[in-house]
Amino acid sequence: MKKIKYSEITPEKIYNRRREFIKRFGITTGSLIIGQNIINTANASTNNLEKKITEYRYITTYNNYYEFGTRKSDPVEKSQNFKTKPWEITIDGEVEKKITLTIQEIKNMFPSEERIYRLRCVEGWSMIIPWLGFSLSKILEKASPTSKGKFVEFTSVYDPEQMPGQRYPILKWPYKEGLRIDEALHPLTTLVTGLYNKDLPNQNGAPLRLIIPWKYGFKSTKAIVNIKLVEKMPTSSWMRASPKEYGFYSNVNPNVDHPRWSQASERVVGSGILSERIPTQMFNGYGDEVANLYSGMDLKKYF
Ligand code: MTE
Repeated sequence: MKKIKYSEITPEKIYNRRREFIKRFGITTGSLIIGQNIINTANASTNNLEKKITEYRYITTYNNYYEFGTRKSDPVEKSQNFKTKPWEITIDGEVEKKITLTIQEIKNMFPSEERIYRLRCVEGWSMIIPWLGFSLSKILEKASPTSKGKFVEFTSVYDPEQMPGQRYPILKWPYKEGLRIDEALHPLTTLVTGLYNKDLPNQNGAPLRLIIPWKYGFKSTKAIVNIKLVEKMPTSSWMRASPKEYGFYSNVNPNVDHPRWSQASERVVGSGILSERIPTQMFNGYGDEVANLYSGMDLKKYF
């Protein structure tokens, strides 16, 4: 075997070697469970994604995280000293059992597994990311939502001392997002603890973020501190900032354009100087799994 220099061992190389090893010998350890993820194996579109995973360096240097600034390079440059320990997450509101857990308790209670999902940003680019996470429904079940819990509101941390972007009213801080309860309980809706088989880098939303594969990236709240069950549809930070541009649902939909960006196609980040463009798929390619959540709804009206 060719010797490799230490400097060449990027997280991506370690990850690929591990995958190669697992593929050949079928052994899994720790939190990486390949092939047992029912959602992934059931979904042909997800399996095809494996071959096109975006390189680690793009996933971790081209980010949207306005708490650290509005440029794509701000999050990686300005978040490295951000403290994610200690960290607590509270689940409250319309629940029978309010719960507060540290991030370590969450990791122990809910083992993460690999989930390869496409992240499609409303700005018109996408990446395929090997997330580590578990279904949000697992943690919601522990809190036992009451019948009044019709929506779920997610809140990011508020800490302007550590987050320079929060010193400016770019958005109404803290960052907030929301889902309908059936969307939140869908097994594809994932709480993310890592990527490339490692803990989440700060710029990607450490220590805990969401990913909702069939919705635009801005729904996937980073650095979550509170998950609240509520009776009324919550107003997200983006809806508040620009209600004509951002609706509550924000399902990926190539037939409904954003006022400033066509949603018909997307640029594949990291696909070379000539940047490949591919047609955007309805529900980001997850229609088989989620279209039934919206049957009978006019998705132009409920964008
Ligand atoms: N969460 C918080 N708290 N603040 C943000 O600015 N940006 C969103 C989303 N989550 C954002 C956030 C947007 S617009 C996108 S596209 C994704 O995070 C980007 O995730 P990534 O940087 O891991 O690719």
